[in-house]
Amino acid sequence: MDYDFATPVERRHPAAGNWPSQKWHHYAAEVLPLWVADMDFVSPPEVIEALRARVDHGVFGYGLVPDSLRHTLCEWSAEHYGWRIEPEWQLWLPGVVPALHLASLALTEPGDGVLTVTPIYPPFLKVAERTGRLPQQVALRAPAAADETWRLDLEALEAAITPETRLLLWCQPHNPTGRVWRHDELAGLARLVERHDLLVVSDELHCDLLLDEGARHRPLAAAFPELVARTLTLWAPSKTFNLAGLTTACAVIPDAGLRRRFAARVRGLQPDGNVLGLVAAEAAYARGEPWRQALLEVLRGHRHTLAERVTQWPGTVMSPPESTYLAWLDLRRAPALEGAASPQQALLERAGVALSDGADFGWPGFIRLNFGTTASQLEAALDRLDTVLRAQ
Ligand SMILES: Cc1ncc(COP(=O)(O)O)c(C=O)c1O
Repeated sequence: MDYDFATPVERRHPAAGNWPSQKWHHYAAEVLPLWVADMDFVSPPEVIEALRARVDHGVFGYGLVPDSLRHTLCEWSAEHYGWRIEPEWQLWLPGVVPALHLASLALTEPGDGVLTVTPIYPPFLKVAERTGRLPQQVALRAPAAADETWRLDLEALEAAITPETRLLLWCQPHNPTGRVWRHDELAGLARLVERHDLLVVSDELHCDLLLDEGARHRPLAAAFPELVARTLTLWAPSKTFNLAGLTTACAVIPDAGLRRRFAARVRGLQPDGNVLGLVAAEAAYARGEPWRQALLEVLRGHRHTLAERVTQWPGTVMSPPESTYLAWLDLRRAPALEGAASPQQALLERAGVALSDGADFGWPGFIRLNFGTTASQLEAALDRLDTVLRAQ
């Protein structure tokens, strides 16, 4: 089947109905938004058909997680990641960000340290404080040259671990750098986790969107069986199939004790499953694969388009996104932005393009650019950025 990733879908104009989106309605009408991480593509037709059938039923009372969904995720995991998970390991939740907070509440005690690496998707930086835990952070090693990537600094990570540290909030593939961590980096991480007796929440939300041909995701708990009993893996169809507004995600917790503890402590803190989200998730995992493959082709093309443009922006360095539709750009040495307090603000004001501010990820001077949009919208936004960043 041919899927349409080219025709722009109106998300802001009143003709789009009264359906405001964070991405398109936060800024003035003339701004092109390449910030919040959702895509401007229509979800797979297979998902929309399933949702239509569910909506036609017309009764939206309390639902249950269907066994068929649990089995579908087991099959997806075995086929794509070579990890045989069980239906009962799955706790379906209203989102990955809620799951990060629930995990902190459920698996640690007040005053325990919750550690994460920066730069990182901003909610990671808020979890500890919001749940009354001790926030702990350590920086990744930034690339020293244009052909290098962000690296995990194991020495710095170990130095950041204190007797209070209890939980590591981990992200693979990594938002915002797009890194798909190498096995040796992860092996070092696994050793530290064991040595310091930590629990890990592994946010693997972007794992279905590996961009390099032949690249394969290995869940942390599958690559390092010694971590299985101390790891909670977070997955969702929301990034892959553009379903974020249907608020449905899954925590995979193989260890029965950890699972029971998590389930007991989060009781009452989350709504029952979103009946539409559960339907969409099952259709996506069961029948969305051809659409996902087509999407990956489009994203690879967009990554290439973006990389070419960035070479024309003096002083701008993009770490090559190995995954997902988010690019992480270092603008600290861009002469066009010299003296600007915030590149994000300067580009919003001078180019009319909304990007995510690196400061929110723990690294001022950087921006994150979402290229999960149509080619024409991406080109239009890059043309606007050109007018500022190509100038000397
Ligand atoms: C790494 C990561 N985790 C979590 C989320 C948000 O997940 P959810 O919408 O399920 O809360 C995002 C969204 O961009 C993300 O990139």
